[in-house]
Amino acid sequence: MANLPGPEWLDDAVFYEIYPQSFLDTNGDGIGDIPGIIDRLDYVRGLGCDALWINPCFDSPFKDAGYDVSDYMKVAPRYGTNADLERLFREAHSRGMHVLLDLVPGHTSEEHPWFRESSRVERNEYTDRYIWTDSAFEGYSMPFIGGESERDATYILNFFKCQPALNYGFATRDRKWQMSTDSPAARATRRAMVDVMRFWLSRGCDGFRVDMANSLVKNDGDDKPETIRAWQEMLGAVRSEYPDAVFVSEWGTPAQSLEAGFDMDFYLDWRWNGVPNGYNLLARNVDGALNVRDDHSYFSAHGGGSVRPFLDQYLPQYEATRSKGRFCFITCNHDTPRMAPRLTDRERRVGYGMLFTMPGVPFLYYGDEIGMRYRDISTKEGGYARTGSRTPMQWDGGRNDGFSTADPENLYLPVDPDPHAPNVAEQQDDSDSMLHWVESLLRLRRRHPALSSSARLDVVAAPEDGRLFAYRRTAADEGESLLVALNPGLSEEGFDLPADAAAGRSLLSVGDVRIGGGRAVLGPRSFVVVGK
Ligand code: GLC
Ligand code: CA
Repeated sequence: MANLPGPEWLDDAVFYEIYPQSFLDTNGDGIGDIPGIIDRLDYVRGLGCDALWINPCFDSPFKDAGYDVSDYMKVAPRYGTNADLERLFREAHSRGMHVLLDLVPGHTSEEHPWFRESSRVERNEYTDRYIWTDSAFEGYSMPFIGGESERDATYILNFFKCQPALNYGFATRDRKWQMSTDSPAARATRRAMVDVMRFWLSRGCDGFRVDMANSLVKNDGDDKPETIRAWQEMLGAVRSEYPDAVFVSEWGTPAQSLEAGFDMDFYLDWRWNGVPNGYNLLARNVDGALNVRDDHSYFSAHGGGSVRPFLDQYLPQYEATRSKGRFCFITCNHDTPRMAPRLTDRERRVGYGMLFTMPGVPFLYYGDEIGMRYRDISTKEGGYARTGSRTPMQWDGGRNDGFSTADPENLYLPVDPDPHAPNVAEQQDDSDSMLHWVESLLRLRRRHPALSSSARLDVVAAPEDGRLFAYRRTAADEGESLLVALNPGLSEEGFDLPADAAAGRSLLSVGDVRIGGGRAVLGPRSFVVVGK
């Protein structure tokens, strides 16, 4: 039983992230679409995922793959229609699944009608919807653009040039064009975003993954008090009508995001351009996403080290927020390098073992279940280095790997040309495949309350001078407790089992694991869940 805020289904939920343009193309135009997602709901469900996060699927000029929205209330024609999306909600619900859309509240496309109006010389309803300075020659200490509008001002960006920042106000102000968070303009922006959420929730959507959720209020310092207040107001308004709506933030600081009213936040430690504290859990290195040799992530057999630096970073955040919401692990996402090929099949099995048995709701990025590889390809729609993690899903050994019937040159992105590239059909037929490993882990997770998102985590062993990590998960009602252990390294490592786990047996394992005589011994690159 959940003891956390949010609907009960979050307790044993597992999310599947779908990058819609690359999942399944049903009309042969070379680009994935919503009917394609509907077509594969049973596949996703069969894998053990019961919820979806779909990257932005709204009308857009696609200069940042749809994170530059030009109409929040309209599905981009290349993906289908609003009716298709509503059908997706219904089809998902009929299978006991839930669907989160991607809300981009901090900025719009420069082609959004709000921005076009805002750019005009004549004052109008949208004049202050974005952040403008007082003169075309006045900049600020944030990225800004001048010379693009008749309006005699520059405007502040939130991300790329195509993404002007919406005006949620400034927490502290040092220029007269900066408005307060209580200004009518900032209030109107918040109301407009609440309307967007209402629009989709009233049509059957279950909630939102929120893009750059910590970016709304400017000059808000490290603690983000005004951004937190803005979210409390907006989420409060939405929840008064849709109490079961679910929100997960791209924020990465759960002490703030959960306070702001989100149900979940992501543990994000492996961005392209810097790793907090120089450490990473998953697959990250300094020389690019394909470089195996220099990968120093924890799951790398040769390059990794102790799990301690990760725990030093994660545990205080987990402890401080575990009664407030869920801090979630991802296998990767559309912004980060896939684990393959830098981590081997075996390293990834051990890694998934941990990711899918830790607290929080896990998010599996499409294709990671078959070990789709990061590809070294040229940029598409503002992807740059991220593009290599966004290639078409590999369904089978047929034309375009079963993704599309289009001519290969008309595909959104090229499919992996390697004749040995993994695909779903092959892995479904192979009982030893990565796909089946993921299924086994997710099945185990669903069966055991001790592996639910709210079940407590206690560290059992995490030696500074070894690679071992052993932990206990205990169900919220104290009814069940399981022990999980992994050794991503190359030498055997062991630890004494806690007294109450001494009689346990392996429920699921990879590699050479021996349990007996009150001790667990883990061979190289191994993983085990011990229970009764
Ligand atoms: C988030 C998205 C990323 C996008 C950016 C700007 O980080 O995940 O894909 O480019 O925000 O919206
Ligand atoms: Ca299509």
